[in-house]
Amino acid sequence: MPNQFWTDIFKCDPSFPIIVNKGFKAEVWSVDGRRFLDFSGAATSLGQAHPKVVESIKRGVERITGFSGLLAPTEPFLKLGGELSRLVPISEASIAYATTGSEASDFAIQLARYSTKRSVILSFYGAYHGLTGYALMSSPTEGMRRVPPRISETVFSPYPNCFRCPIPASDCEDCVQAVLSFIEEEILGRAVEEEDLAGIIVEPLQSHGGILFPPKSFFGGLEKIAREVGALLLVDEVYTGFGRTGRWFGIKHHNTTPDILIMGKGIAGGMPLSAVAFRKDLVDKWYLCSGGSLGTYAGHFLSVLASLSTIEAIREENLLENARKRGEELKKGLNELKEKYEFIVDARGVGCVQGIEIYEKGKPSGKIAGQIRESLFRRGLLAIAVGRHHNVIKLTPPITITEEQVQESIDIIGRSIKEVSQGAAQ
Ligand SMILES: Cc1ncc(COP(=O)(O)O)c(C=O)c1O
Repeated sequence: MPNQFWTDIFKCDPSFPIIVNKGFKAEVWSVDGRRFLDFSGAATSLGQAHPKVVESIKRGVERITGFSGLLAPTEPFLKLGGELSRLVPISEASIAYATTGSEASDFAIQLARYSTKRSVILSFYGAYHGLTGYALMSSPTEGMRRVPPRISETVFSPYPNCFRCPIPASDCEDCVQAVLSFIEEEILGRAVEEEDLAGIIVEPLQSHGGILFPPKSFFGGLEKIAREVGALLLVDEVYTGFGRTGRWFGIKHHNTTPDILIMGKGIAGGMPLSAVAFRKDLVDKWYLCSGGSLGTYAGHFLSVLASLSTIEAIREENLLENARKRGEELKKGLNELKEKYEFIVDARGVGCVQGIEIYEKGKPSGKIAGQIRESLFRRGLLAIAVGRHHNVIKLTPPITITEEQVQESIDIIGRSIKEVSQGAAQ
């Protein structure tokens, strides 16, 4: 077992008991030659070693290994700023680079507090925005906070869950309205004075929260509340950005205009890069060196090149359409499995972000989800479990996945669930 370091020092097992050797788009191989389809949806929306990304890094590394954007920009640094500014649904957005999603969330929250001169942030149960100070403060996800947050100026609301609404409701729209009323009646004026609310930070789809994708009306309602009380809308696209949902950004499904948009993970083909896009008028001055660097490695030369190649690949290879089509095929396959196996009580998602919710005897079952996940691993598919009870298996393939690979994955998922069902029946 290769993981002495993690288990001994951090008391944390890695999600998969393998040592990863190499990858290509949706596939990865371990050092002992096993092949896996990677549905874990971690660092990249293109998957591993996309040829365009590889080529740009190879060419770039011979020119510059890492001149800090704090001191002077490079041409690709400026070019990417322009591209991102045009891609995000904020007109004439300013762009600041960071390295991780957590740092970008942190900066977004600081920016909201600074520009509104207010202190409180509204976040949602089930949200995940990162592990650094302000980001951690807005992330009530169990197990993430090992120490209490330093600053307690965050208030939390339930997030709509159309399968099992956290507030009693008759259907999905009713759930959305119940959550919006909760914010208006129980949070504003009670947990926080309206004039103290700096911003609402929200994911277009909660991934850690259990693959929850609320309808348009929720985001429209949140935007309205934010405008009415003078707070900003901060949209965290670290997970949903760069095509994963079949659009450039998840919020584009909802006709909602954020004031601040946070990007990370998929934006640079797997290289470390994050960015925050924000309304230009929010700040007159901020310590943003070279027009947008938030640290030594922020806007790193090689990451910026990889991000430009990622944008090119998404455009040239029609990957948004691919994400939509492959997502539909995956969803159809998952819904067919749902009809066949009692364990699956819901199959949901959008584009290449899908999930199945697992119950046993009428209750959420993290235990059965764990067994299915283990069986998926043995059959060559990497996936993790999310949600309050760790009973939602998250199925997030890269947007480069092929039709054949989707069919292969449905076959693996079906055989794994069958195996676990037969085991449970004995
Ligand atoms: C929605 C969201 N925000 C922020 C983060 C934090 O990003 P990072 O791990 O790069 O710090 C994550 C990571 O999973 C995420 O999913």
